[in-house]
Amino acid sequence: MTSATSPLLLPAILERYSTRSYTPQNVSKEQIERIFNAAHLAASTMNEQPWRFIVAARDLDPEGHTRIGSTLVPGNAWALAAPVLGISVAGKNFARNGKPNPYHKHDTGAAMALAALQAVAEGLNLHQMGGFDAAKAAEVLEIPEGYEPVAAFALGYSDAPEPPVRQRKAMPEVLFGGKFGVAL
Ligand SMILES: Cc1cc2nc3c(=O)[nH]c(=O)nc-3n(C[C@H](O)[C@H](O)[C@H](O)COP(=O)(O)O)c2cc1C
Repeated sequence: MTSATSPLLLPAILERYSTRSYTPQNVSKEQIERIFNAAHLAASTMNEQPWRFIVAARDLDPEGHTRIGSTLVPGNAWALAAPVLGISVAGKNFARNGKPNPYHKHDTGAAMALAALQAVAEGLNLHQMGGFDAAKAAEVLEIPEGYEPVAAFALGYSDAPEPPVRQRKAMPEVLFGGKFGVAL
């Protein structure tokens, strides 16, 4: 058994998966706010909080939804059915001194992981996508200099069942004891 199947993990971690099929049911603005409130509570280098989230619900902001959808690669066309689309964005430099923050994308990804878990708690499914045109996103979403699009995401109610098996490398391939490659 791998850790992905241990029943002792937090239920939201066990239940999270990335769907490719959404129902048309809308997600409320309050749910979106809670999900990104969770993201905003992530840890970050020097508490820089480099993350920014651009989000558009189809029912509340159809033009924004179309704008974000226009940045997705054809292989991610399934995501256009999601009632909510978004892009995570990372500030590249520290606010305090303007120097590059080497952890800007790391910390933004950590925030998105918390968003995905809060989505599970809301009965929702958040699926991140690297398959989008970052240059186009920067342009059409008017992302200012100093910020970098990191990933697109879809959010909504899944109508696909959770996969029965979580596809993961065996734990000894990723968890080491004291040195790289050494068994714990
Ligand atoms: C940064 C990032 C980029 C991803 N890009 C895509 C993508 O472009 N298209 C897609 O269908 N899934 C994408 N995924 C989803 C992964 O394929 C998925 O998380 C992985 O297969 C594990 O499955 P699970 O999330 O259901 O556990 C991405 C996930 C992450 C975190």
